Amino acid sequence: MKCRSYLFEFIPMSPAQPLTELQTYADEEVLFEQIANNLQSQGYAICPASLPIELGQEICEQLYGLDETEFTAAGIGRQDQHMHNEFVRTDRICWFTGETPTGARWLAWANRLQGYLNRRLFLGLFSFESHLAHYSAGDFYKRHYDAFRDQRNRVLSMVVYLNPNWGPDDGGELVLYQNDADTEGLKVTPLMGTVVLFLSEEFPHEVLPAQRDRYSIAGWYRVNGTTPDRVDPPR
Ligand code: OGA
Ligand code: MN
Repeated sequence: MKCRSYLFEFIPMSPAQPLTELQTYADEEVLFEQIANNLQSQGYAICPASLPIELGQEICEQLYGLDETEFTAAGIGRQDQHMHNEFVRTDRICWFTGETPTGARWLAWANRLQGYLNRRLFLGLFSFESHLAHYSAGDFYKRHYDAFRDQRNRVLSMVVYLNPNWGPDDGGELVLYQNDADTEGLKVTPLMGTVVLFLSEEFPHEVLPAQRDRYSIAGWYRVNGTTPDRVDPPR
């Protein structure tokens, strides 16, 4: 919760003061540094109002233009272990490919964060994959890990929320648990602009049933798991 809400301080309100690239990058580094500090000290970062506003608006516009058929039922596991299980999760997803200008801008932002964290924390993050997720009323994702200790595939998880005016009655909170023994967890409201990062192997988490349409981006930074007898594909 220590991230500074820099967006609202720096984005000029009048068109007479255009936002320069320089300002954008200076602000971005403030956020990235906060994320690095929080990851270093506690293994996670919860940052309200941190997705750049224009990027958030663009992604939402693209989202509203998407047909529900572009979302597919989310599965669990990767590749051959991939399966669909409605007892675990009921959301629907749409992968970012970077083919649209908006998708490319989102991936570029995630990529700059990757570079920053690699320089600052020597994480060796190698690739990033992400999808939009749509939870309809009643949808949930039961307690799970995004990665398993011996697999070293997903190292760092990121979730970004795209829901303006999310209230306490709307449910759909992310609950981030400290470890297997933690039954209380930290509740995060899926409010527009909130960015959450956590070490994928360390933090079990769940999405409580949403009471209305809930949109988020989930993304994962991976290290390269290529070995002499196996080429590691990005997904
Ligand atoms: C996931 C996930 C959390 C959220 O997709 O793996 O945990 O709040 N999402 O959407
Ligand atoms: Mn998850």
